[in-house]
Amino acid sequence: MTISSAPGKIILFGEHAVVYGRPALAVPVAQVHADVDVSDSARAGIWIDAPDVNLHAELNTLPSDHPIASVINNLFFLLRVSPFPSLNIKITSTIPVASGLGSGAAVTVALTRALSSHLNYSLTDEEINAFAYEIEKLHHGTPSGIDNTVVTYARAVYFIKGQRIETFKIGEPFTIVIGDTGISALTRESVGDVRRLWLYDKSRWETVFDKVGEISFTARRVIEAGKSEMLGELMNENHALLQVMGVSSPELDKLVEAARAAGATGAKLSGGGRGGNMIALVEKGKAPALAEALLSAGAKRTIVTTVG
Ligand code: PMV
Repeated sequence: MTISSAPGKIILFGEHAVVYGRPALAVPVAQVHADVDVSDSARAGIWIDAPDVNLHAELNTLPSDHPIASVINNLFFLLRVSPFPSLNIKITSTIPVASGLGSGAAVTVALTRALSSHLNYSLTDEEINAFAYEIEKLHHGTPSGIDNTVVTYARAVYFIKGQRIETFKIGEPFTIVIGDTGISALTRESVGDVRRLWLYDKSRWETVFDKVGEISFTARRVIEAGKSEMLGELMNENHALLQVMGVSSPELDKLVEAARAAGATGAKLSGGGRGGNMIALVEKGKAPALAEALLSAGAKRTIVTTVG
């Protein structure tokens, strides 16, 4: 039996602007994860058991664009696995789906690692990441690649699309509370809406993206220097720019306001927006009270995570 696990992730700074070449920062969230175990099967076929999504099926019965089938088929094609071995694959995940916590990328990475090592192929992180990016593109149109990157390396990353992936050190650990609106929103749609704005008035939006990029750049320096108390204001500024892009929502704004009122140093939406999650920076001791305040303001779930 071969097992593999991959964490969830949150984007700290730079979503949307990252699609236009500006830097973004993302960190793993170890409290939630996707887990895969692969074992040889006595029955012929590849038997997939994913109880969280109510999937119990043999690979050949799934449509070829099914997210799990496409990972297996593309990986076996890449590795030239032929004929297909008989396997049992169990997939579980505690990462909420379609809420900006990287659930799709985590399943892809854990499944790719478990399958390749079960079949004795040793893939590097770079290879896993490149493969996971191809899978993300199949399902999400034009993703920047930040999700698969942070989930593959399971480290804080400073990411510039197509150019630079740098993992970086956290000077001093800091605490983030994640609040989930419970509203699932398609990142593809908010990315498409921002693209329409940009096409209409490129110079205006390039200026907005530049401001976001500067925030990400500064935030990385602040985190490396262990001065996380300075991140709150940067989060607030980044949220305001995301509002200007039209990717926040009344529910996200309500949670962001509630977080600030309950003592967060700063707060912003995280990920594609419109629904999904927001994040708030808080002193560790105040995190439980902040989580309560978010639940009272309508959050469906909260996660307290320490970065670093
Ligand atoms: O919704 P998430 O967490 O998958 O993040 C999307 C981030 C965007 O910048 C909006 C899109 C992208 O591909 O980077």
